[in-house]
Amino acid sequence: MAGRVAIILAAGVSSRMNTKMAKVLHEVCGRPMLAYVLDACREVGVDKMYVVVGFGSGQVQQQFGEADDIVWIEQQEQKGTAHAALCCKEYLKDFDGETLVLCGDGPLIRAETLKTVIEKNESEHAAATLATAVLEDPTGYGRIVRDAYGNMQGIVEHNDCTAEQLAIKEINPSYYLFDNKILFEALDQVKPDNVKNEYYLTDAIEIILAAGHKVVAVTAVKSEEAMSINSREQLSETSKIMQRRIQHNLMTNGVTIVDPDNTWIDVRAQIGQDTTIEPFTYIHGKVRIGNGCRIGPFAYLRDGTVLEDDVILGVFTEVRDSVLGQGVRARHHSYIGNAKIGKNVNIGAGSITANFDGEKVNSTSIGDDCYIGSGSIIIAPIELKDGSNVKPGTVISQGDVDKLGQKGQ
Ligand code: UD1
Ligand code: CA
Repeated sequence: MAGRVAIILAAGVSSRMNTKMAKVLHEVCGRPMLAYVLDACREVGVDKMYVVVGFGSGQVQQQFGEADDIVWIEQQEQKGTAHAALCCKEYLKDFDGETLVLCGDGPLIRAETLKTVIEKNESEHAAATLATAVLEDPTGYGRIVRDAYGNMQGIVEHNDCTAEQLAIKEINPSYYLFDNKILFEALDQVKPDNVKNEYYLTDAIEIILAAGHKVVAVTAVKSEEAMSINSREQLSETSKIMQRRIQHNLMTNGVTIVDPDNTWIDVRAQIGQDTTIEPFTYIHGKVRIGNGCRIGPFAYLRDGTVLEDDVILGVFTEVRDSVLGQGVRARHHSYIGNAKIGKNVNIGAGSITANFDGEKVNSTSIGDDCYIGSGSIIIAPIELKDGSNVKPGTVISQGDVDKLGQKGQ
């Protein structure tokens, strides 16, 4: 069996996060951090991902369990990153290919970086290749130690560094590629000789070098991509960086974002060309917005929102699980939930769909070209025909629908 697999380390307890939840389930811009790492692997053609879980493993498997390219590996006791990787031995000991080893707490990883590592490993005929980054403040990261010729000598963890090594700014973001057999031979030899008394994956590098194999370190990681999440502070910083990436992609695709710092858009959202997002807009979940829309300021779009082209949503408008047809306008203070709204409907200031009756959520259907006057309450379940005219201040339920006049009457 040849090919490429990945080991993803995700078993840590994460005391620094101070959480009861598995660290890798904490969300970055709407997705658990582990999801980004898995996707980066898939993008470079990894066939199988061996995800090492421990703390909160049930929760993690529940969220990702359906993917058939994942093999879950339990690490009963968290004895360090080398020990975690070694937990995959039973599955991988005979695998004759390349193994990426990554951490589940590094969602900023990019597939392009993995590609660089894979290509470098091949062109250098190396036994292992790792990507490195240069950081202004390398505090906390493993330092890359090189000899006078620039050859890789090893990685020293922050806590084990000499004063001289602490000054090294080239760090290990934990993006590795190994010849699988050489990796497992080395992992067997790692000893917990360090301040934390843990089995360090980083020590495998020195062991591989000492066995006479070639290890290459390629400075391929931008500093903003190197951050891993060990604390809530880093969770928020990482989310900021991810948010910038999401907005950058949207702007490249022709979306205007008036004030990026005061806008939040979920990574799962899709937004069409020439749509403008005004400040203080919050888009959370799988939301699809068409072309030429104008959203915000102060709009809140939630999971399941679909806006066709030329929709205008203004201040304090909240939408969830609803489809709004072309040219719908809800400019001020509305709540639209579980609704299907036809084309060219005007929803006046302060009008809402009352979709919850205390027990269940009901749906609303509004036809094309309707006029919903200001301050109306549309009580679901209800179906308004095309061209319906709901006078301002109306409270309407299905029983009253036939009494409605046509728009303009
Ligand atoms: C690790 C690296 C460090 C690097 C940094 C980059 C080691 C020894 N150090 O440090 O060189 O600069 O990542 O982000 O590898 N995990 C397990 N089981 C364990 C221990 C950890 O699965 O027994 C998992 C964690 O859940 C985490 C990953 O391994 O996803 C890394 O562990 P963490 O404790 O965050 O290592 P760092 O101190 O960040
Ligand atoms: Ca980490």
